[in-house]
Amino acid sequence: MSRALPASFPPGPPSRLRHWSAGPLGNDPLGFFTALTRRYGDVAGLQLLNFRTIYINHPDLIEDVLVNHARRYTKGRVLRANRRVFGEGLLTSEGDFWLRQRRLAQPAFHRARIAAYAATMVEYTERLLQGWRHGEERDAHQEMMRLTLQIVGKTLFDADVERDAQDVGKSLELLLEIGADFRRAIFIPEWLPTPSNFRARRAVRQIESILYRIIAERRASGSDKGDLLSMLLEAQDEDGSRMTDKQLRDETITLFLAGHETTANTMAWTWWLMAQNPAVEAKLHAELDAVLAGRAPSLEDLPKLAYAGHVITESMRLYPPAWGMARLAIEEHEIAGYPVRKGMGIAFSQWVVHRDPRWYDQPETFRPERWEGDLLKRIPRFAYFPFGGGPRQCIGNSFALMEATLILATVARKFRLKLVHGHPIVPLASITLRPRHGIRVTLESRAPVHARSSAQGLQSAVAD
Ligand code: HEM
Repeated sequence: MSRALPASFPPGPPSRLRHWSAGPLGNDPLGFFTALTRRYGDVAGLQLLNFRTIYINHPDLIEDVLVNHARRYTKGRVLRANRRVFGEGLLTSEGDFWLRQRRLAQPAFHRARIAAYAATMVEYTERLLQGWRHGEERDAHQEMMRLTLQIVGKTLFDADVERDAQDVGKSLELLLEIGADFRRAIFIPEWLPTPSNFRARRAVRQIESILYRIIAERRASGSDKGDLLSMLLEAQDEDGSRMTDKQLRDETITLFLAGHETTANTMAWTWWLMAQNPAVEAKLHAELDAVLAGRAPSLEDLPKLAYAGHVITESMRLYPPAWGMARLAIEEHEIAGYPVRKGMGIAFSQWVVHRDPRWYDQPETFRPERWEGDLLKRIPRFAYFPFGGGPRQCIGNSFALMEATLILATVARKFRLKLVHGHPIVPLASITLRPRHGIRVTLESRAPVHARSSAQGLQSAVAD
């Protein structure tokens, strides 16, 4: 039986736009959705001009949309509005075209394949650390952005993007800033000659020029490096046609952006959380010292670095880089008894679900230990979903988890990141969740295990 839409659906159209745009959604989407859930529970309605969205907050309802009825939906309006950036890449394409591209890219993310990327991840992190000095002040977010960009460039495209990292970083920053504006994303078409559209276009062109260069270099070399770019270049349709430069551009820009910014955010939030939780930090250090005994981590160490894994899992619970998701109905559906008409939006938020006391004890507390038992089995599947789910689940899921754990282990083995007093840490809920003003830290070198134990030995000898 179909119910009337929930009372929370605001009645009047134009005044609603003012309420939404000037109100809390525009300025503070995290607070807005949290408050919406507190007030209306698991289902609430939103209206922006004539665009209606049902906001859902129960894991089973989310599963219904992402998994059980995935075919009834396409990606939401905000992602679709960013098609100038992503084109027909994996993140934004739909239907048969998406499926074909997904099948094509999938082998580059198979377990055996990504295992081969572990050494590069550690090597590039070590390289970053070579430039770090004890007592120096840095922005942990910027450092992680540079690092993850280089890792994705090297592993998937065998391209050294060190020299491009700064340009890509700046352009990306701008795109994310523009992308954070929901009103613009939903209502202002990309072709309209507005200042922000001009700036976005320029930023896209800058990133494109780098990607086209990488594609041209590879085409010219004619060599099959066995990486994702080679796979995409080699891929043929049944009629023998290959991907055009434009298609390759769409896939590469998607993987560059989707594949580095999210992991960089995870790491930035992790450093911040660790710096505020000395007991967690101490436990992690103890694990690293015991397992690694002073050497750099490798793929084989991962199963033994269980606590490091829990730190990442818990960090993505509290600060999910994909903090919210949306879908657009292309078929009629019904959610919790409410009718979903074609063209209506569905939205839900990892930020809110991951902090729900129904699933998590003391949900606001950073406690990696909560993952030591069988918590994942006890909570509903979509009570924890940093990588989304269903057919459109993140293709880089295992890649990202391996990368984050290896970066954490490699850095924490050598350095402690102390927060710079007074620096404001403010989450910015753009397409991803990033620290608006970065995370300023002072680097503190950790003495190597053997040096420390001999120093301890000396101390106790003196005490004796
Ligand atoms: C912590 C890191 C990451 C997080 C939290 C994350 C999160 C997500 C989420 C939530 C989605 C689903 C979006 C939706 O259904 O609307 C997604 C899709 C995607 N992600 Fe990730 N991601 C991460 C890392 C990566 C990496 C490392 C790569 C590639 C190297 C990557 C590539 C992609 C692609 C291509 C898609 C689109 C997949 C498709 O629709 O077929 N992501 N990601």
